Amino acid sequence: MILFDEAKQVFHLNTPGTSYVIGIHDEGLLLNLYYGKRLPDHDLWHLSRRMRCASFSPCDPVLAPTGFSVDVAPMEYPTNGRGDFRVSAVAAKNRDGNTVTDLRYQSYRIFAGKPDLPGLPHLYVTNDAQCDTLEITLCDPYTNLTAVLVYSVFKDCDVITKYVRFVNHGTHPLKLCRAMSSCLDLPSMDYDLITLYGRHVKERQFVRRPLAHGLQGVRSVRGSSSHAQNPFAALAQTGATETTGNVYGFNLVYSGNFEITGEVDFGPTTRMVMGICGTDFLWNLQPGESFTTPEAVHVFSDRGLGGMSRIFHRAYSDHLIRGRWQYEKRPLLINSWEAAYFDFDTDKLIAFARQAKELGIELLVMDDGWFGKRNDDTTSLGDWFINTDKLDLGRLVDAVHELGLKFGIWFEPEMISPDSDLYRAHPDWCVHVPGRVPSLARQQYVIDVSREDVRDNIFGQIRAILDNYEIDYLKWDFNRNLSEAGSALLDADRAQEFFHRFVLGTYDLQNRLTNTYPDLLLENCSGGGGRFDPGMLYYSPQIWTSDNTDPIERLMIQFGTSLCYPASTMGAHVSACDRTGYETKGNVALWGTFGYELDPCKLDEQTKATVKQQVAEYHRYYDLIHTGDLYRLICPWDNPFCCAWSFVSRDQNETLVTLVCMRHEEQVLFHLKLQGLDPEKRYQLEGTDEIYSGALLMYAGVDVSERADRDGDSLKLHFTAIG
Ligand code: DGJ
Repeated sequence: MILFDEAKQVFHLNTPGTSYVIGIHDEGLLLNLYYGKRLPDHDLWHLSRRMRCASFSPCDPVLAPTGFSVDVAPMEYPTNGRGDFRVSAVAAKNRDGNTVTDLRYQSYRIFAGKPDLPGLPHLYVTNDAQCDTLEITLCDPYTNLTAVLVYSVFKDCDVITKYVRFVNHGTHPLKLCRAMSSCLDLPSMDYDLITLYGRHVKERQFVRRPLAHGLQGVRSVRGSSSHAQNPFAALAQTGATETTGNVYGFNLVYSGNFEITGEVDFGPTTRMVMGICGTDFLWNLQPGESFTTPEAVHVFSDRGLGGMSRIFHRAYSDHLIRGRWQYEKRPLLINSWEAAYFDFDTDKLIAFARQAKELGIELLVMDDGWFGKRNDDTTSLGDWFINTDKLDLGRLVDAVHELGLKFGIWFEPEMISPDSDLYRAHPDWCVHVPGRVPSLARQQYVIDVSREDVRDNIFGQIRAILDNYEIDYLKWDFNRNLSEAGSALLDADRAQEFFHRFVLGTYDLQNRLTNTYPDLLLENCSGGGGRFDPGMLYYSPQIWTSDNTDPIERLMIQFGTSLCYPASTMGAHVSACDRTGYETKGNVALWGTFGYELDPCKLDEQTKATVKQQVAEYHRYYDLIHTGDLYRLICPWDNPFCCAWSFVSRDQNETLVTLVCMRHEEQVLFHLKLQGLDPEKRYQLEGTDEIYSGALLMYAGVDVSERADRDGDSLKLHFTAIG
């Protein structure tokens, strides 16, 4: 619900549990008056008393007598060079060569529903009653640059999305040097900043640090959102825990260079801006042209980090993931990569499929190595035609389907090998800048998908495969970061538009793919989880979480990923790695989109029996895990010895609890407290006659002292409400 109080000049944006209040101050300056737990009040102007100038703070001359200064005010969309010295949301270079920017209120519009963002992924609604949208138009009186701030307020979850549409209404060209998607100014610094850092095989590691005066935050300049930092951050009130305290969650629906920058100033106030990274970004706006930023997602919870995560999970499950596989049960897969790497042929894969069928697996994915002359990673990216020396794809696909399995294939569409027919024919199609030899990573270059002709070629090649063979699933990989980032088609003036144009090119390709093949199950991947972001989730309902399939190391990765991404999106497979037994490998992989990453023909009889049991459990718990609520009961960043999580059905009639002993610690008594149950209901522990109230399970806990007491052990407890 969005209200505008004309008399007070205040916008009130309400989700079921939160309020976001924006005020129009004198001289058309837009202020952020409040964001947090839902308020009944409209008049929050008394909160502006502290917005007085400090010494040295510049003032708008009209406002000078009142002592107001943008230097200390909570600005809704702060501009560069007009006296607010904190990190700005926007800076536009004008015809005079300076970047002083000033945006003043002009008008507003409130309507039901949520508009699409052209060419960009975004949260959506299926009918207009699910959400209201507010557009506030600001204008720079000198340049006539307008910024339309677009807020969508959801009615079924505590989510507010924001983005900005710029239009150059002036008569002179402008250059956007900085164009953030959102800004939030909070009136204190009593928060910890939580972010997710990582690297290949160690994605999304949890890090929490108290805010300090000055700048802090995360960014990527790698061309993709990256393994190194995720476009997610949270501000947790000092002392907030998994279950208690106020937490703000921030996530950018974008897969390229981003920044989430926090600044604590002398107030002390905290500013958080999020958007496309300001480094290497410069966008030309000719008169009449427009530019739309990616969408930022804002969540507030007064129920700790767990509360924040569950809001993200439901919002993404219902308003971000799309298409046939949004709610339809996904097939349980086996992937050839760790089983065979490049060493396979038609018969070997048919043998995999035959054995997989016997185990109950539903989809065979043929990974890297089926095209061009690709027998190792030095060659052939870009040559997306079948390597007939190695493979009879028609016979393979038919055999797999005859067995009753689905068939999946691997592509890496944004890459090109120097040793490929495509590169030899079009050397200028690789991402490069004049005068510099492009760097190699994994022996490959990046192909310039900012170009339409390149996209047409790549999509044409993909179509030639998908139109001629019955392909049910596609894994889309991306195995290097961008360097010497430029396009042969962009002149010097537009060179710094490249990074964003590249991301738009990727989105266009994935859009073409999902529109042309609506039944295809798409799984994104980037050397594991190097592009695990909401932008990618708009196109693919699942993403390969990490190349690290060690179940113990996976715990930290999956716990971190779960801060904002739901279980139904996390590719999680059992592999042959022998750090723990198969039971724990299965229990950890069950958290995500379950599958296998091993040679099924090499399993002994006992392991095959375990796999069959896991397959049965996958079916049994599918709905609970994919639609239930996740509770992180013991997090690995809090406890190095053991961790635990649970899924609770939305009707609170069922919960599946998993506990993993990472490193055994002698402990005489260990009561695991559950969460999310109905305290009034009575629950029976499966396989026993033990019955407990929800209250007891949550407040006193269940005794697990002797149930998982060796390194790598794990257990599952399944409770069902009775009566
Ligand atoms: C990286 C992916 O994460 C792996 O699963 C596999 O697909 C390889 N690329 C293939 O090159």
